[in-house]
Amino acid sequence: MCGIVGYIGKRDSVPIVLDALARLEYRGYDSAGIAVIDAQGNLVGSKSEGRLGRLVERLRDGEPLAGSVGLGHTRWATHGKPSDANAHPLGDCSGRIAVVHNGIIENYATLRAHLLERGHVFTSETDTEVIAHLIESHYNGDLLAAVRATLRELRGAYALGVMSNYDPEHLIFARNGASPLVVGIGEGEMFVASDTPAILKYTKREIILQEGELVVVGRDGWKLSDYDGKELERDVVQIAWDMGAAEKGGFKHFMLKEIFEQPRVIKETLSGRIDDLNQVTLAAELGDVTPERLRAIGKIAITGCGTAYYAGMVGMYLLRSLVHLPVEMEVASEFRYGDPVVDGNALTIAMSQSGETADTIEAVRIAKGAHSTVLGICNALGSHLSRVADATLFTRGGPEIGVAATKTYVSQVTVMTLFALYLAALRQSTPVDRLRAIADGTKLLPAAIDLLLNASDDVRRVAKQIRKAQSVLFLGRYVNFPTALEGALKLKEIAYIHAEGYAAGEMKHGPIALLDPAVPVIGIVTDGRVREKMLSNLMESRAREAPVIIVANYGDEEAAQVADHVFWVPKVDELLSPVVNIIPLQLLAYHIADLEGKDVDQPRNLAKTVTVE
Ligand code: F6R
Repeated sequence: MCGIVGYIGKRDSVPIVLDALARLEYRGYDSAGIAVIDAQGNLVGSKSEGRLGRLVERLRDGEPLAGSVGLGHTRWATHGKPSDANAHPLGDCSGRIAVVHNGIIENYATLRAHLLERGHVFTSETDTEVIAHLIESHYNGDLLAAVRATLRELRGAYALGVMSNYDPEHLIFARNGASPLVVGIGEGEMFVASDTPAILKYTKREIILQEGELVVVGRDGWKLSDYDGKELERDVVQIAWDMGAAEKGGFKHFMLKEIFEQPRVIKETLSGRIDDLNQVTLAAELGDVTPERLRAIGKIAITGCGTAYYAGMVGMYLLRSLVHLPVEMEVASEFRYGDPVVDGNALTIAMSQSGETADTIEAVRIAKGAHSTVLGICNALGSHLSRVADATLFTRGGPEIGVAATKTYVSQVTVMTLFALYLAALRQSTPVDRLRAIADGTKLLPAAIDLLLNASDDVRRVAKQIRKAQSVLFLGRYVNFPTALEGALKLKEIAYIHAEGYAAGEMKHGPIALLDPAVPVIGIVTDGRVREKMLSNLMESRAREAPVIIVANYGDEEAAQVADHVFWVPKVDELLSPVVNIIPLQLLAYHIADLEGKDVDQPRNLAKTVTVE
């Protein structure tokens, strides 16, 4: 949700800020802007509705800017429509203060009314603009003091950046709530961004801002404090990701590259977590969530949003099957208002790629308030979730730039599988041999996915046949019901085709009425306890003349007979099959979106990290 970039150093900030913004565009892309302090000490800027490319053209064709201190923003609109006027940076009346902001200022209407009464003139409909005017109203020769006084008046979750030619040697940033900010440390230059990949090209040394913190960056360093001015220490983190991770590497889109990274990601996710006896070893990573604590829990609640929620849902089936504990699922936006029944005997598992999703963080706060133990399953190191959870299992997916989650989904499901195996072994709820066989089976997943990636062209052929469909139904059962949900979500979000994921047994209770020759049905029929039931459900679809496409195990000719087309997949343990079965569905969504000329990596109306409620 909005990307922030800041630079102060010895180089021209404009190309650096624009380059970093391009890597943050996945966070929002309805308008963009930049401000710099030029050689004469003036605060100047340019902004434009639309993609970052428009701003770049504007700068090239008529409004060139240069200056060694710069602040940029790419927006995902919350308050005020996408327009030049509402694009950030936003300024005060004097034109000497520029502010960029990610998040929502909840009390902006009251603040704005007071400022209007005092004669301030507003040029946008945003909540952000009040910040610039408040700083102006508090300024009395000390910019930092004015920012601090302003922060004390703001309510909401936000990250913000302030630049002013009152103090051209510094940039000021603050964070409150689930709006990430990292400070990259260079030689005589400093970088600030909403996410690590944006500045990875320039430095791999960074500090991560936490809630309620403010940082002042100058050419030679940074000073971290709380809002009241108490100085804080912070370890510098050395980022292990390489730059290639944030580049397309010859693929047409990030999403396709990330789909193709999945075999490597799974290897990485498994690495060091299964011993030579095929026992899962997570105790060290789980730290305070000790074996004793895990033996004592009486129920599990799983929460998250979107794709992360569906990965959690696979986990629900795994935990029920292997650990035999009651497991509840609720999307985080409902969990937080739905009076969740969790207590000191419960383990709440929060799933989130970014670890910054506002609803998920709030759900965790509620669970912790009820004394539940909280386990985070998360991709981003140092994220909000990883700090508030009692323990975090990292998914090790590396940076995911495509807005549609792919590699992080399979890595989340893989971590869930490892955790279910670990917990089942601790609680002795499933025979050890069975657990070891599943753990051993996980090692085959990378090769299985490799095979499927080789069949990408076959998936594209099917994509050509159904690309004009108005509606597609995805059917699955048991552990592959979430696969159906996730397959449908991918198609919706990047190809803009209406799609529904359904528990196949529910078809005849309503959705079957939708079927006709124009509504393709995609069913997951791989081996396991529901294969035959799935076949019957697909026969029912076929009887209504719906084109039927299935995901089935190599050689399953019986299944092939109910289908117009088969995506063949290798056979793995049923509990591991969601990791394999999702691959053709990811590819299908990708190819349809690409054939239809959609913006695969930055689908309309979406943002990668949703830091507003
Ligand atoms: C779908 C997608 C979203 C996210 C959801 C949660 O492809 O990317 O549905 O899964 O916004 O995001 P995280 O995992 O960052 O909490």
